Amino acid sequence: MHEHTPHDLAGKNLIITGGARGLGAEAARQAVAAGAHVLLTDVLDGEGEDLARQLGARARFLHHDVTSEEDWRRAADFAVTEFGALHGLVNNAGISTGTPLEAESVEHFRKVLDINLTGVFIGMKTVIPALKEAGGGSIVNISSAAGLMGLALTAGYGASKWGVRGLTKIGAVELGTARIRVNSVHPGMTYTPMTAAVGIEQGEGKYPNTPMGRVGEPHEIAGAVVFLLSDAASYVTGAELAVDGGWTTGPTVAYVMGQ
Ligand SMILES: NC(=O)c1ccc[n+]([C@@H]2O[C@H](COP(=O)([O-])OP(=O)(O)OC[C@H]3O[C@@H](n4cnc5c(N)ncnc54)[C@H](O)[C@@H]3O)[C@@H](O)[C@H]2O)c1
Repeated sequence: MHEHTPHDLAGKNLIITGGARGLGAEAARQAVAAGAHVLLTDVLDGEGEDLARQLGARARFLHHDVTSEEDWRRAADFAVTEFGALHGLVNNAGISTGTPLEAESVEHFRKVLDINLTGVFIGMKTVIPALKEAGGGSIVNISSAAGLMGLALTAGYGASKWGVRGLTKIGAVELGTARIRVNSVHPGMTYTPMTAAVGIEQGEGKYPNTPMGRVGEPHEIAGAVVFLLSDAASYVTGAELAVDGGWTTGPTVAYVMGQ
C-alpha cells in the first residue's frame, strides 16, 4: 500500500498558470499523479478544459489572463472554494521573443514584461494571504536559462526572466517566517509548442549548444517543479534550480589562443 512520503503532494491544492499545454500541462499531470488537487488556468480554454477532464476529479480549469488582477482574484477564490484551501502556486504562463534588441519594439517589450513579470508579481501578491491562511506553502516561479545568462534575441524575454529570478528572492526573504517557500526553476531549451514553433528538434545530438547535446522534455522540467512544491524541499527557499542539460554551466566548445 502507498504510504505518504515527503516527495508526494497528497493533500496539497495548487494553481498552475499556463496549464493548458507545454510545461504547465506536464506539471499539472505530474502534480495530479503525485496526489495534488490542481486548478489549471490559461487563456486557451479548449485545451485547458480538455486536459482538466482527462486528469479527472482532482483537476479543474478556469479561464485566467495572468495580466489581470481581477482574473487572479477569481482564480485564488475559485481554488479556495473548490478545494477548501490553497498550498501552492506555479507561475508558469509566459510568452517568448526572438528579436534583436535594436529591432525590438517598445510596445512588444512592455507586453512581454506584462505577462512574464507583472503577471508573476500579481500572482504572488494575490495568493500570499491564502497560503498564510493554510499555514504556509510553496511558490514556484518558472524563469528560464535566459534568466541566468545573456541570451541573444531575448531583450524583453530575458529581462522578464531575470526579473522573475529577482522577485523570487524578494518573496523568499519576506515570506520565510510565514513558512512560504519561493523558488525559481530555469528550464533550458525544452521541447514544447513554444519551441516547436521556432524549429527546435528533439533527440540526442540535435542540440550541440548544450553539454547533454539535446533539448529537454517537459517531464524533465516538471519533476523539478513537483520537488519544489513537495515537503521534500521543506528547507529550500530562494533557490534557482537550473534544469537545462548543463546549458548555463558553460560553453561546449573550448577555444585556446594560438591553436
Ligand atoms: N520551452 C522552453 O524551452 C522554455 C525554456 C525556458 C523557460 N520556459 C518557460 O516555461 C513556461 C512555459 O513555456 P512552454 O514552453 O510550455 O510554452 P507554451 O507556449 O507551450 O505554454 C505557455 C502557456 O502560457 C499560456 N499563456 C500565455 N499568455 C498567457 C496569459 N496572458 N495568461 C495566461 N496564460 C497565458 C499560453 O496560452 C500557453 O498555454 C514559460 O514561462 C516559458 O517562458 C520555457
